[in-house]
Amino acid sequence: MKERSVKIECVNVSKTFHVPGQKQLLHVLNKVSLKVYENEFLVILGPGQSGKTVLLNCMDGLIEPTAGEIRISGKIINGPGPDRGMVFQRYALFPWKTVEHNVAFGLAVRGVPVKERLAVARRYIELVGLTGFEKAYPAQLSGGMKQRVGIARAYANDPDILLMDEPFGALDAQTRYAMEQELRTIWEKEKRTVCFVTNNIEEAIYLGDRVVVMSALPGRVKTEYSIDIPSPRAYTHPDFLTLRKQISEDTDLVL
Ligand SMILES: Nc1ncnc2c1ncn2[C@@H]1O[C@H](COP(=O)(O)OP(=O)(O)O)[C@@H](O)[C@H]1O
Ligand SMILES: [Mg+2]
Repeated sequence: MKERSVKIECVNVSKTFHVPGQKQLLHVLNKVSLKVYENEFLVILGPGQSGKTVLLNCMDGLIEPTAGEIRISGKIINGPGPDRGMVFQRYALFPWKTVEHNVAFGLAVRGVPVKERLAVARRYIELVGLTGFEKAYPAQLSGGMKQRVGIARAYANDPDILLMDEPFGALDAQTRYAMEQELRTIWEKEKRTVCFVTNNIEEAIYLGDRVVVMSALPGRVKTEYSIDIPSPRAYTHPDFLTLRKQISEDTDLVL
């Protein structure tokens, strides 16, 4: 079998912070080592405060690890780059820009001419199912639609890697299921290397090719699971329920 190529590699990544007024350092990540393979959908599952956001920000290059290193395609990173796109939990859209201009923003920054960047934006607006809303403003959209814009915006920059930080955490349960299905469909159409962070076990099993489970304080990798349930996945598939039980017994997640 062909060896899968490693896209992202975290090697013994640790992160400590000084907390104002406290003598002791806060150990947020403790020797986190993990690999994300090319075009794999990896989910990092962990409770709140397990350093998931800090780890993702390290991969994006926004935060420098205190120790250890992060490699992308074998090269140590030393800052953000156009090879990585982030989808945030808070929508982080420009309220004064229309959907199409929000999606095209990264291309505008890179100097892509307006006609060309709007054409790219429309392609990804279609991919996320928002055709017809190109000229709408974020305030006119539901939470799920805003997050579709966030996904389209990340895709429009054509990064190899998508980093997603609990993107559906603020949505109601029904919308969340719908968005999980949508994201899996989008990714199957346009595969990228995805590193998706969540504190929700079902979401992790629904989305991931592999799930890395973290424990908290300090955050470290506890276990990992391969998910072989065929797509489209059903939350009631017997393997789904078995894994759900197994992961919840293995973690300190509060359910
Ligand atoms: N810049 C910072 N300075 C000090 N502490 C921080 C900083 N960023 C994050 N932390 C702390 O790191 C811990 C883990 O945070 P976070 O990565 O946001 O957890 P998670 O995303 O898993 O909920 C928290 O206790 C948080 O307060
Ligand atoms: Mg977080």
